[in-house]
Amino acid sequence: MGGAINMSDTLLDVRNLTVKYKTSNGMLTAVSNASFTVEEGQFLGLVGESGCGKSTLVKTIMGALDNNGKITDGKIYFQGNKIIDANNELTNEKGKWTDISWIPQAAMNSLDPIERINKQAYTIAKAHTDLSQTQVDEKLKEMFDIVGIPKNRITDYPHQFSGGMKQRTLIALSLFLEPSLLIADEPTTGLDVIMQDQVINYLEEIQDELNLSVLIITHDISVVFEMCDWIAVMHSGQLVEEGHIERVYDQTSHPYSILLQESLPDLRHPDQELKVIEGDPPQNIGRMNYCSFANRCPWEIEECTAVSPSLETVSSNVEEDDEQHDHNVACIRKDTVRSEIHGGER
Ligand SMILES: Nc1ncnc2c1ncn2[C@@H]1O[C@H](COP(=O)(O)OP(=O)(O)OP(=O)(O)O)[C@@H](O)[C@H]1O
Ligand SMILES: [Mg+2]
Repeated sequence: MGGAINMSDTLLDVRNLTVKYKTSNGMLTAVSNASFTVEEGQFLGLVGESGCGKSTLVKTIMGALDNNGKITDGKIYFQGNKIIDANNELTNEKGKWTDISWIPQAAMNSLDPIERINKQAYTIAKAHTDLSQTQVDEKLKEMFDIVGIPKNRITDYPHQFSGGMKQRTLIALSLFLEPSLLIADEPTTGLDVIMQDQVINYLEEIQDELNLSVLIITHDISVVFEMCDWIAVMHSGQLVEEGHIERVYDQTSHPYSILLQESLPDLRHPDQELKVIEGDPPQNIGRMNYCSFANRCPWEIEECTAVSPSLETVSSNVEEDDEQHDHNVACIRKDTVRSEIHGGER
């Protein structure tokens, strides 16, 4: 579990972001009224099932939405400057591209297999800086050292590397220009469990060493509980729970997050049967006039299909030194479902 951090400045600030795709069946809302921040030095984990809008959210931040995508509402600020607003207007490209580094989903396949890694690094550097090849090599060697690949291999070709090494090479390539924020979209998908662990350990180490902020996207809530200090849970285009990792771990309050957590093996009770979240993800995602999880929710009551809940602070057990805003949940039953579980009513 992530350690204590000193929050000081807000690096990334996403406010009321709504993103839609034009499809042959009309407009599809992929992200709905999402607001969150990434603070300096923070390690934020974004989780949610396939199709809930995670990649759309980060593509929007990077100004790399697919052509049929459109920001219909909201603004994104980076280091206090507005970088994007509705109509996909990029308002401050320059600062953004050097300070935010993005490893897109399935990026491993995007390494050019037949170009030496240090040459690929130089191509990236040339677009944003005046660094020479020698300077690039020096910086890349430092990064290789951190991700645990021998320095002399910066002149290798990607096809000479294993999957895990390619993944770590990508991390090195995304960090040698010293960004303040790294956004990694499913950086461990496709790797075996041991390799996943290694990549994650390296990310943690790098974050410590470079005082980097990281936004990591994953399907796996256990990865988030293990490595992040802040969590955001997304369901059907909406953020349904977010907060400090320890608060959310101890007091998971949105039914969807509770079920995600229960679907993990519990090391203390390895014989316990794992729960499966039944039902399919909603087809018509986006903001509706009712809770998008209601039809799969074991704690559903009649009102759940009558209102669309928004993120609100969880009121139970707030300790005096807690900041009020450090645990928010979008569920009209947020203050009662946990006691129902512990009371065994379900
Ligand atoms: N270019 C596009 N055109 C139309 N719909 C799209 C497009 N890209 C994504 N979508 C839809 O938007 C929704 C969100 O997709 P997104 O890729 O953001 O999900 P995700 O949470 O990253 O999923 P995964 O975990 O599988 O990567 C999905 O319903 C998807 O089908
Ligand atoms: Mg994705």
